[in-house]
Amino acid sequence: MFERLGDEYRRFAENVLAALQTKKGGQVLEIGPGPGWAGLCLLEKRPDLRLLGIDASPDMLRAARANAEAQGLGARCEYREGHAETLEGVEAGSVDLVISRDSLHHWDDPAKAFSAIRRVLAPTGGAFIADGRRDLSLGARLFVGTIGSITAGPMAKYWKSSLAAAYTPEELREFCALSASERPGREWRVKEGFLDLAAIGLPLHTAAACR
Ligand SMILES: C[S@@+](CC[C@H](N)C(=O)[O-])C[C@H]1O[C@@H](n2cnc3c(N)ncnc32)[C@H](O)[C@@H]1O
Repeated sequence: MFERLGDEYRRFAENVLAALQTKKGGQVLEIGPGPGWAGLCLLEKRPDLRLLGIDASPDMLRAARANAEAQGLGARCEYREGHAETLEGVEAGSVDLVISRDSLHHWDDPAKAFSAIRRVLAPTGGAFIADGRRDLSLGARLFVGTIGSITAGPMAKYWKSSLAAAYTPEELREFCALSASERPGREWRVKEGFLDLAAIGLPLHTAAACR
């Protein structure tokens, strides 16, 4: 099944691992895993990590559990119903890596969610929150309207509405700044791509080393 997945999940996992050094045996929290593929690709690349997935949809959680089992990764995953804004039941400071892909634009209160992420992260933990961007360049709009529509087929309209609901780099920086102000020291950066954005929260020691 992994072979048949679109490259975007594998690329997401590679980008996370390139951006953040997560400690061996670490605990990953995936927010809004949907059917789970992003986190499962990450676990495939890092056999030492464990994953907790929190999603608002029981149907999606069922799909994620089934996919994890089918990939032989069930023993390293747990999926629970919950919300990005509260991350209820996730212990403070217990997470080494928070990941999320294509979920942020659904969150009712992103500022509250970034605060919840700050709460659950261990001091040495990092975060990689990726989503589309609303402020597409002319080239990106042409891409989505033409090549994107052909490759995404009937899903193209959902893709376009997701992009329309997504945030701009400036808006994402504001969410990050709120989280950073609650715990000075953790540095947040916004990585800008052609169609997407990623808010990357670096642990204190890494942020200092990168300067
Ligand atoms: C577009 S899907 C993306 C799924 C997956 N991450 C992917 O990239 O394929 C968005 C997911 O976020 C979940 N979601 C939406 N709002 C949420 C919230 N406030 N807290 C947690 N999960 C949420 C939805 O149930 C859905 O599974």
